[in-house]
Amino acid sequence: MQLIDGKATAKAIKEEIKIEVDKLVQAGHRAPHLAAILVGHDGGSETYVAYKIKDCEEVGFRSSLIRFENDVKEEVLLAKIRELNNDPELDGFIVQLPLPEHIKEPEVIEAINPAKDVDGFHPVNVGRTVIGLPSFVSATPFGIIELLKRYQIETSGLHCVVVGRSNIVGRPMSILMSQKSINATVTVAHSRTGNLEELCASADILIAALGAPGFIKENMVKEGAVVIDVGTTRVPSSETKSGFRLKGDVIFDEVAPKCSFITPVPGGVGPMTRVSLLSNTLLAAKGNIYQ
Ligand code: GUN
Repeated sequence: MQLIDGKATAKAIKEEIKIEVDKLVQAGHRAPHLAAILVGHDGGSETYVAYKIKDCEEVGFRSSLIRFENDVKEEVLLAKIRELNNDPELDGFIVQLPLPEHIKEPEVIEAINPAKDVDGFHPVNVGRTVIGLPSFVSATPFGIIELLKRYQIETSGLHCVVVGRSNIVGRPMSILMSQKSINATVTVAHSRTGNLEELCASADILIAALGAPGFIKENMVKEGAVVIDVGTTRVPSSETKSGFRLKGDVIFDEVAPKCSFITPVPGGVGPMTRVSLLSNTLLAAKGNIYQ
């Protein structure tokens, strides 16, 4: 069994990005610039956005945090998005989700200029991904593909089961795994899938993205399988300073001995998700996706 070290891989990618940023700046360009819009004060969202800003600093990006209170009117948020869409000093931006209930998330996402949609959530980016055009790909699937490539994991002709069909992880993951560069045969499983246990046990590559801690057990994994655990559920813990710890969708201790490769939680997919937003922002700054 080989552990897929997402933390070390993300660190290496950050160093590569930093080198590229230094080159851009030395050539007289301004540093890549990412903005994050944060509505309200949800604890999880505050933490994620703080990480995004810190990550930017570490690679030499400029970053901006734009805050609104929880009761912001949708029109005010949309006006800010239009302003950012037209700001030549800004390469990409994200609107941290979830949004308060009175704001229609799809309208907010569709208001973002696809060329600045470094989250890859806009339907234009999703559609371009589906037909294999250059696109911004959402950070978690982007990071997982990068792990598979960097660990030179065989995918061609293999059966990949993706458990979960969310717009930001399961669905785009399934599309990427079926693309010509990866060539897996893909099954998307979800909460209504029958005989899920047998289906998972038939996977050469199992990608667990359901957000149900400890759902994948030893009997659901084939001998020699590659297991990618996307789960990062916060569970209370008396052993950490923050008072919680992250729990994956896979029971690691049971499953790991059967695997050829497996990602741990924490230290697997999570750091790759974080660094992929930086990769997308660099692509945006260089105009690599939309010329
Ligand atoms: N909420 C949870 N994950 C994400 C993400 O990747 N991007 C944004 N904008 N919001 C999120």
